[in-house]
Amino acid sequence: MKLYRELAGWWPLFSEPLHYASEAEFIHKVLDDFGNGPRQRVLELGSGGGNNAFHLSAHYSLTLVDVSPQMLGVSRKLNPLCEHIEGDMRTVRLGRAFDAVFIHDAICYLTSEQDLHAAMRTAFEHCRVGGTALFMPDFVCETFVAETKHGGYDSGVRGLRYLDWTYDPDPDDTTYIVDLVIAMREANSEVRVVHDRHIQGLFAPSRLATPAQRDRLRGAGYCRSLAARSICCQTPCLRQPSTQEKVDGSDQETHRDRPDSFCFELDCLNDLSSR
Ligand SMILES: C[S@@+](CC[C@H](N)C(=O)[O-])C[C@H]1O[C@@H](n2cnc3c(N)ncnc32)[C@H](O)[C@@H]1O
Repeated sequence: MKLYRELAGWWPLFSEPLHYASEAEFIHKVLDDFGNGPRQRVLELGSGGGNNAFHLSAHYSLTLVDVSPQMLGVSRKLNPLCEHIEGDMRTVRLGRAFDAVFIHDAICYLTSEQDLHAAMRTAFEHCRVGGTALFMPDFVCETFVAETKHGGYDSGVRGLRYLDWTYDPDPDDTTYIVDLVIAMREANSEVRVVHDRHIQGLFAPSRLATPAQRDRLRGAGYCRSLAARSICCQTPCLRQPSTQEKVDGSDQETHRDRPDSFCFELDCLNDLSSR
């Protein structure tokens, strides 16, 4: 994805911390409400430009993992006090446990159940006994809506605007498409337009508790938590409209409910640590 690689330097004009304020608040509430013991050390997998971290670093000591060194560079500037580590959420192993682990919109980039479970396994491996793992995809099957959005910001002589066109050509598979058209204006007023296609994953949290899913999750260490204490959080969470959208008021659908995060308390760690 160009946005997270060669265009990463434009990320602050694509999305700013305000864009993530209400979702960061939701994450803070979940981490406070679930689990037990201290809530100090928190790991975010797929931390991107660090917009969540910008808000959450007031409450936690954060370790931020992302597969893109360019996005980590953007986040370092915004969150100089956070620990930043390059790694893939499916495979990274830091050799230590945290009070909580969460994956927000980055989990959308996992498009197969195998990859999804690998990332859940990573979360599990890094969560202490009694800790909390939280997964917050943009959509799950039950909440998917085709939509278009736009946004972007100016900063000095640079400006960016984007159109985000989200649709699902095949409702029977586990993916949907986000086509981004990104226009960037440089100091010389030339506008460059780039098309960036993001293939994203679409899964049903309700199906995670079926016997077949449970078998697969057993391999990821989630059997006990699913059997005994699985929790599906259904708290609505609104993404803030961007400044541009608020200024011109022309956006048709600038934000939407995000009701289906799913969250497991990892009290199964005791069992696993004795294996
Ligand atoms: C939408 S951005 C995340 C924005 C972030 N929530 C924030 O607060 O700024 C998605 C990020 O997921 C990262 N990503 C995608 N696949 C990944 C993977 N397998 N492991 C780690 N990071 C991944 C991308 O590099 C990108 O930085």
